[in-house]
Amino acid sequence: MRRPMVAGNWKMNLGRSEASALAQGLVDGVDDVNNAEVLICPPYVHIADAEAIVSGSAVQLGAQNLSDQDAGAFTGEISGAMLKDYSCTHVIVGHSERRALYGETDELVAKKFAKAQEHGLIPVLCVGELLEEREAGNTESVVARQLDAVIQANGIAALENAIVAYEPVWAIGTGKTASPEQAQEVHAFIRNKLADMDSGIAEGLRILYGGSVKSSNAEELFSRADIDGGLIGGASLDAAEFLAICRAA
Ligand code: 13P
Repeated sequence: MRRPMVAGNWKMNLGRSEASALAQGLVDGVDDVNNAEVLICPPYVHIADAEAIVSGSAVQLGAQNLSDQDAGAFTGEISGAMLKDYSCTHVIVGHSERRALYGETDELVAKKFAKAQEHGLIPVLCVGELLEEREAGNTESVVARQLDAVIQANGIAALENAIVAYEPVWAIGTGKTASPEQAQEVHAFIRNKLADMDSGIAEGLRILYGGSVKSSNAEELFSRADIDGGLIGGASLDAAEFLAICRAA
């Protein structure tokens, strides 16, 4: 039985005091969240404050990105070791916004995935198709390509200690959620594809859905066989709403 996970990707939102208040609100409410593992990924500059607030609670801490390098002359970058120093346990890798807006290629994402694991962080690997790719009938080939880049570089065994998030790009921040059927179909495709390589890893892998998840649609999505929780953007910025989503998992 896969334990559900709900992860909040705060993206580039919230000032310092708002971020701390949100983290505190989650710590105060997390004990009522039955079964789900709860993770927050604040902007880098809020991670130290969040570490102090979530320490000792069931709220886990992660980052939204990491460098593919370890140290040195890489202005503006943050290494996996630095994140580890601030008690991060997870890191998002290959978010569609990184791919689309900052030119992250499948190869770079695969390197970041490896760096995360090298530093003892669990990568949350994001995959998903653009609207035009879905409309052209290429959803599965796009998702397969994104997964294969990571598997070719790191081996199928690397997915044993990782999480995958399926985030159809057309559903992110648009209010347009994939229907539970659409999401389940891609989640099942991902699991079946991996099962061809290693059935044990495929069975144990948590595959989160992301894209306009709210408390009002979470339960329906999370009830599908291959949807093991969510990666939440906008709705993770409100403690009560995010906790309601966690309770749905
Ligand atoms: P929204 O929940 O705002 O659609 O964002 C999803 C997402 O990109 C999470 O990483």
